Amino acid sequence: MKKLFLLALIFLTACESLPTYTPEPDYPVVKTNPTIYDAKTSDPVGLGDPFYPMLGNPGYDVNHYDIALTVDPTSNTISGMTTIEAVALEDLSQFNLDMSGLEVDSVSVDGVDADFSRSQMELTISPRSPITAKQAFTVAVTYHGSPEPVMDDSIHMPLGWQKMTGGLFVFSEPSGAMNWFPCNNHWSDKATYAFRISVPDDFEVVANGRRENISASEVPGYSTQVWVMDDPMSTYLATIVIGQYESESQQSTAGVDIHNFYPLGTPDNVKDDFARTPEMIDFFGVLIAPYPFDNYGAVLANEELGFAFEAQTRSLFGKQGADEEVVAHELAHQWFGDNLTVATWHDLWLKEGFASYLSWLWLEHSQGSAAFEQHIQDVYDVLVMSQYGVFFQPVGAVRPAGLFDLYGSTTYYRGALTLHALRLEVGDEKFFEILRTFYANYSGDGKTAKTDDFITLAQEVSGKDLTELFDLWLNTDWMPPKP
Ligand code: TRP
Ligand code: ZN
Repeated sequence: MKKLFLLALIFLTACESLPTYTPEPDYPVVKTNPTIYDAKTSDPVGLGDPFYPMLGNPGYDVNHYDIALTVDPTSNTISGMTTIEAVALEDLSQFNLDMSGLEVDSVSVDGVDADFSRSQMELTISPRSPITAKQAFTVAVTYHGSPEPVMDDSIHMPLGWQKMTGGLFVFSEPSGAMNWFPCNNHWSDKATYAFRISVPDDFEVVANGRRENISASEVPGYSTQVWVMDDPMSTYLATIVIGQYESESQQSTAGVDIHNFYPLGTPDNVKDDFARTPEMIDFFGVLIAPYPFDNYGAVLANEELGFAFEAQTRSLFGKQGADEEVVAHELAHQWFGDNLTVATWHDLWLKEGFASYLSWLWLEHSQGSAAFEQHIQDVYDVLVMSQYGVFFQPVGAVRPAGLFDLYGSTTYYRGALTLHALRLEVGDEKFFEILRTFYANYSGDGKTAKTDDFITLAQEVSGKDLTELFDLWLNTDWMPPKP
């Protein structure tokens, strides 16, 4: 039986099974063609990311988003205002925000009405009087409409705000955030958030961070539910779920508060999947650094999902729950991916390979070293098989060209094995010092990390020349020998 299962796994991975493909929804979607790769020259506005040149905007830095929306979950319509506090990095006679779909009613800059125009995903704003470099300014955008998922051409999955049974959820990585609030939609511009979401009284809102007050809305029969995220967060991590929910609280021995949110009627065996989160959070807390945010917890969409997602402080799972490895993986992202931000998706393995390896370290801790060694062997075997598949490529060559190129087993598993190879080369003591120092030096606001930063640091800490090891693991066409 086990053999059959492994064979099936190898077959699936040879065809690159990860992640599960989600079909386009049967309502309109927005294509992001101009945002990717080969369209570099189509529109100069963007931060020039190698994979997503049009995402984000130059000229300013956002500090805070205040997103105030009234939502009718049944018709999936929203209306409201997003207020953005930003600082100009240069003199600005106009600037852009990213916004996909929806109708803009008005825009103001520092309280004064501003002209605006829209083209594809760019909302161009011309303030009455130009903003000067280093000046702090506030932009308020009033808008309404029915959010349409962004179809990211590198991923072919609906992203952003989308419908689920009995409600709505948000899953934005990497480009979807702009379908529900105007933003500087690149992970490198992190900001704090307040979500003020008004929904019919019998709906609950779950979001990142800390729940504040619930009060009556101006709309009869609606209540306004407020959540705040006071630690800097990338736009793709901003997540809300609206539906009928029950919550469960846990606390780790080290004192981290955990709040899980389950669709009403979630069976106990699904809730059990999250029973060991407190132990995991303390395990990573000792291994890497104390948990970086105010609280943590899972939220389950009221829908089976073919993926899980590391929304900051509130990881998102499908209603079917998740196994220990996936639960640990999303938690590990809170350190690597959320608090430490990857500079460009070319270096996606710096979060996916790291979260995968950290989840295996949890397995080593919880199930013992024999189980861990077996896991490494199984994953290695799968990768060796997969190199005969059409999608196989070195970690350093992932591109956003096809369904699985970016988020495939290369990024996740070969990335994780790269860390395992490093660990065996430098020894446990240096290895964990490298992980801790990398995290300490590159996490938090205003910083991002690249592969070269990690290699340089690994060499500094270990005192070894590791160019060959990283070249072998990240750049060669074929799988290196098993580490
Ligand atoms: N980052 C998520 C995880 O590994 C998965 C994910 C986010 C994803 N966006 C995606 C997978 C797009 C495939 C395609 O936990
Ligand atoms: Zn991940």
